[in-house]
Amino acid sequence: MACAFMLLVVSSLLLSSCFLVSEAQSSHDPLVSGLSWTFYQSSCPELESIIRKHLKKIFKEDIGQAAGLLRLHFHDCFVQGCDGSVLLDGSASGPSEQEATPNLTLRPEAFEIINDLRARVHKQCRRVVSCADITTIAAREAVYLSGGPYYDVPLGRRDGLSFATRNTTLANIPAPTSNTSFLLSSLATKNFDATNVVALSGAHTIGRGHCTSFTQRLYPTQDSTMDKTFANNLKGVCPTSNSTNTTMLDIRTPNKFDNKYYVDLMNRQGLFTSDQDLYTDKRTRDIVKSFAVNQTLFFEKFISSMIKMGQLSVLTGTHGEIRANCSVRNSDNVYLSAVVEEEEETWKLKTKPPQSSIPYTMKYVLPLKNMRGTAKTAYLPVLQRSG
Ligand code: HEM
Repeated sequence: MACAFMLLVVSSLLLSSCFLVSEAQSSHDPLVSGLSWTFYQSSCPELESIIRKHLKKIFKEDIGQAAGLLRLHFHDCFVQGCDGSVLLDGSASGPSEQEATPNLTLRPEAFEIINDLRARVHKQCRRVVSCADITTIAAREAVYLSGGPYYDVPLGRRDGLSFATRNTTLANIPAPTSNTSFLLSSLATKNFDATNVVALSGAHTIGRGHCTSFTQRLYPTQDSTMDKTFANNLKGVCPTSNSTNTTMLDIRTPNKFDNKYYVDLMNRQGLFTSDQDLYTDKRTRDIVKSFAVNQTLFFEKFISSMIKMGQLSVLTGTHGEIRANCSVRNSDNVYLSAVVEEEEETWKLKTKPPQSSIPYTMKYVLPLKNMRGTAKTAYLPVLQRSG
């Protein structure tokens, strides 16, 4: 009898925990076709632990890199979808997204970290994981490892074959001078509502901003919605409007992913117009207040907004590619083609030396310049007539 009672209790506990799990899963909207919660389960089961292990090491040395990675994912997704297009260097077809004004303040280290993660992941699992997915997981880790919530991210994105123009990039990444009206209408075109806008802006709980992103609020006249002491301190950091200094986005807990950003806004200590106006505007003010007093609510809305952002215009299935180098399309991957061609030429020279009447010399040309200024090590060998 006692045994039967125990069985009943255990099975009802099991049933209720199943209910909780399925309830948690169903709280997400349906996924975009082609993405899945278990995409690399068999092809790269260690994927997320490889990324976490490496990022833990990096963040231990410089937690600021977490902010850089989170912002990189946002800038990837908002322009042409989460397709890794922001990672592409410029090419003969024109300047890349990286050269558009909003992307000039992305941290150069963020690009290097993604490529480094890609090398580690591909070494273990071969080339099965896209740069767009690596960026998505890195952004999640940035949130989690800075003290924010853990959340699963759907995977299966493929990398785009092209980057957007500078004008398209400018049109899709809102400026820090934007007011709430602009943000609401601009993000509504991507299907984000007011709660999404306020929750996503909460990413400014970590990281830094350059003076040029907010000095229009200090000079020539001081923004009346900014706390006076806060403004005076900022004038110390940025003595002129084009000073190259930086300051933290969240004055209270600059390196911790928490809800203090909203407390800043309620104290008129938001750094950008786009931040502070969320508290000034009646349509978003109560949402700011609700996140300032309830961190759990903020985390819940932040997670669902990030999962939504991570699905913007993704390429899946047979679209796009899995890049062998996150900053170069596979077909433009001069390093790979250089190695292949060099081997081919060596083989040709060994087996069939050129006739002395048509002398050839090996000449190296640099066909691609890395737009971020870091010199590419790949030189393309070409056979040229020397006479
Ligand atoms: C809603 C409109 C947004 C605007 C106008 C905006 C604008 C900016 C600007 C101007 C900066 C500082 C750049 C600099 O001067 O160095 C910045 C930094 C940052 N943004 Fe946003 N942002 C927005 C939304 C987002 C979203 C949706 C995320 C992520 C989900 C995000 C994450 C970050 C992070 C983490 C930083 C700090 C980066 C670092 O320390 O390197 N932002 N943002």
